[in-house]
Formats: sequence, C-alpha cells, structure tokens
Amino acid sequence: MSREHFSSRSTAVLAMAGSAIGLGNIWRFPYMVGENGGAAFILVYLLATLLLSLPIFFSESIIGRATHQGTIGAMKALAPGTAWRHMGLLTVLSPLIILSFYSVVGGWSVEYLLKSLTFDFQGATQEDLGAAFGGFISSTWGPLVCHTVFLSLCALIILAGVKKGIEQFSKYTMPLLFLLIVVIMVYSLSLPGASEGVKYLLKPDFSRLKASSVAAAMGQSFFSLSLGVGTILTYSSYIRTEENLLSSGVGTAAFDLGFALIAGFAVMPAVFAAGIAPGAGPGLLFETLPYIFSKMGMNLPWLSSLVAVLLFVTVLVAALTSAISMFEVGVTFLVEERGVKRSRATGLIFLGTWALGCLCSLSFGPLDGIRLFGKNIFGFCDALTANFLMTFGGLLFTLFVGWKMKKEQVRDEFTCGGQLRFSARIFPAVYFLIRWIAPAVILLIFVTNLLL
Ligand code: PFF
Repeated sequence: MSREHFSSRSTAVLAMAGSAIGLGNIWRFPYMVGENGGAAFILVYLLATLLLSLPIFFSESIIGRATHQGTIGAMKALAPGTAWRHMGLLTVLSPLIILSFYSVVGGWSVEYLLKSLTFDFQGATQEDLGAAFGGFISSTWGPLVCHTVFLSLCALIILAGVKKGIEQFSKYTMPLLFLLIVVIMVYSLSLPGASEGVKYLLKPDFSRLKASSVAAAMGQSFFSLSLGVGTILTYSSYIRTEENLLSSGVGTAAFDLGFALIAGFAVMPAVFAAGIAPGAGPGLLFETLPYIFSKMGMNLPWLSSLVAVLLFVTVLVAALTSAISMFEVGVTFLVEERGVKRSRATGLIFLGTWALGCLCSLSFGPLDGIRLFGKNIFGFCDALTANFLMTFGGLLFTLFVGWKMKKEQVRDEFTCGGQLRFSARIFPAVYFLIRWIAPAVILLIFVTNLLL
C-alpha cells in the first residue's frame, strides 16, 4: 500500500513534538510537580525520561518505521501468528480513553479563551476566580458544549489527512507555542512573591517526595511523551527510511522537556504569588493564570487581555496537536485493519470518545457520586491510562524490541544499515537500556506501586 510520509526529519520531529507537547506539559506537569513536592519530583522526572522514556521512544519508532504500519499491522508483520497482535488492542483503546478526558480539559481551555476575549478576569480576586472555575466544571451544559467543540476541531484536522492536516498544523503552530509560553513565564516571574515559586522548583527537598511520586514521575514522563500507547509508533510509521531515529527521539524529548519546564516556571511562581496551595490538583492552571491576568490588568488592561487570549490560544493549540495524534491512532486502525473509509472512521472515533468524554465531564458535577477506586470517572480514566496502561504498554514495547525482534534488524533500523556513524557507536548502550534497564526498572516501579 502506498503511504504518505512526513516530508523531512524536522517536520517529523515537529509533528511528534506536537503530539508530545500538550496539556501534559502545561496543565498536568505543573500540578503533578505541585502534588509531589517540587524540585525533587522534577529530578526523578528527568531521570525517568532519560532511562525509561527514551528507550521506549526508540522502541516505538523502530517498530513503526520498520513496518510503516500502525500498531496492529506492525505487530502482525514483525511477529505473525503470535499473541503480540493483541498489543494492538491496548494501543487503540488507551489513546481513545486518554482523548476522552483530554478533550474535556481541551474544552475548559476553549471556555477560558472565550472568557479572556470578554475581559472576564479583570479586577477579579483569587476567590472569585477559584469559585468561577469550580462552578464552571461542575455545571452540566457549558463543559459539554466546550468538549464537543474541541473534539469537532480535532475531527476536522484529521479529515484533512496526514500531510495537509497534521503536518501543516504542527509546522506553523509549534514555534508559536514556544514563544507564547516564554512570554507568560517572564510575566509570572516578575510578580511579587514569585521567588518562592522559583525556589520550590529549584531546591530539591527529598523529604517531600512521597513513595508514589516515583511512579507518578514515570507516568507523567510517559504521558508527556505520548508513550506506551502506539502514538509515537504510528507517527514513526510515516517517517522515511533514511531518517535518523536517534535525533528524532532526542529532539522530541528535548522539546517536550523544555516546554514542561518553561510551563512549570510560568505557573508555579504565580501559584506562590497568589497564595494558592501548590498541591491544588487539576484546577491549578485554570485558577492560577487568570490570577496573573487580573494582576496585569490593574495597570494595563489591554495588555492583560492580549496575553490572556494568546495564552489560551497556546493551550488550545498545544492540546489540539496532541489530541489529533490520539485520534489518528484510532483512525489508522479502522482504515488499515478494518478497511473503513477515512471519513467514516473519523466519525466513529468521534462518537466513541465524545460519549466517554461526556461522562468524564459530568463526573465533576451531576455524576460526581460515581466513584471508581475512590476517584470520579475523569480521575479514574486519567490514573488508569497514565499510571497503568501507558506504563504497561511501554514495558511491552521495550520487551518486544529487546527480546522478540532480531538484534540485527533493530540495529539496522536504528543506524540506517550502519550508515549513521554516531548512532552505530552508541547502539550498544541504547540496546542495553531497551533490553534490560528500561523493562526491569519499569516493572520494579510498577509492582512496587501496586503493592503500596
Ligand atoms: N503527550 C500529550 C501531552 O503531553 O499533552 C498527551 C498524549 C498525547 C498522551 C498522545 C498520549 C498520546 F497518545
């Protein structure tokens, strides 16, 4: 079958960075740091990225690029007639579960973009802003409409196809994203009281690190790099055979990490300046940033509104580029494995994720009483995917490349048949990480976390 390809390595990196950089960096990273004690968590997170996430990233890209197929096709091609094909199911379901709750948060950013367009934050106190957020997410219709708008935008981009849709979209928006978040960070750092937030991010206090924080750091790193669910595998299947997988992986991880840290420095100083508790949870971003804008608004209302609009456009675009990568996994599956037409596949994925997303959205309001393992439906889907399915998926990908694929094939793919000198030189270390370190450490953290 003839397949589209990303036109160069830099666009492939941009598209993968587009998938990686999203609400995970801007919304989830800061509140995870806040819930797990600050700088010490960041250190564990860095270690997890280097030792666990990168090997999984390489594993997924090796499988995807070697076969130029989505997860199920790839497994069938590399391990025909084995149980590995069931891996496909995990990698189709997980991104769709993530997309459901992700789209709800995407919807919140649609609402906050509208609020900032109408100068809603000006003159409001921290209490007003907190109450407004709580009131909004626990209401019935507003969040549902916003979730529907967000998911419809994803579907439209997906309908445009890989080249015109995803590639073009990422190419123009990712550089803009960086610029915008840096502007917000600079303003946040200039707020009175911001230095406490900087200290919180830079001075590790290991006594604040909970036992579960290690698993949380690993889950956050996988979530942020879109690992363990076949997204990177699927994107890599669109990368040309002569491209360098080492630099695509390292490039994407560096962008992702840089973006998360900048987002941390944009949010946490403002959290301290506003006197909000850093462990306030999923609402942290949406309660903190309007505070920044209300402060800015005191002397420069137009500037405050402009920055607010820019920021929520940023959040929205970052969320969209990630959401379309999850959407694409499901569409690729239906098109390539079930022979469904692309437009129909897009409609089907839309419907399924929309329905589950509605339940997630309502779980802050009318369905709040439904508890699964002590969490509401939204929290359950989040924890199930980040702490369980992605971890398990990542483990399986490293095991597949490290133990099931032939070493020669892995080396060939990673080094382009030995042509890439540097990749060839470091291949033994990378292979060791994939085959031994990553699976062993993931398993250890996983089991320890289950037992705790
Ligand atoms: N990496 C995305 C983020 O940080 O927002 C989230 C994500 C995208 C997770 C795609 C999983 C995925 F397949």
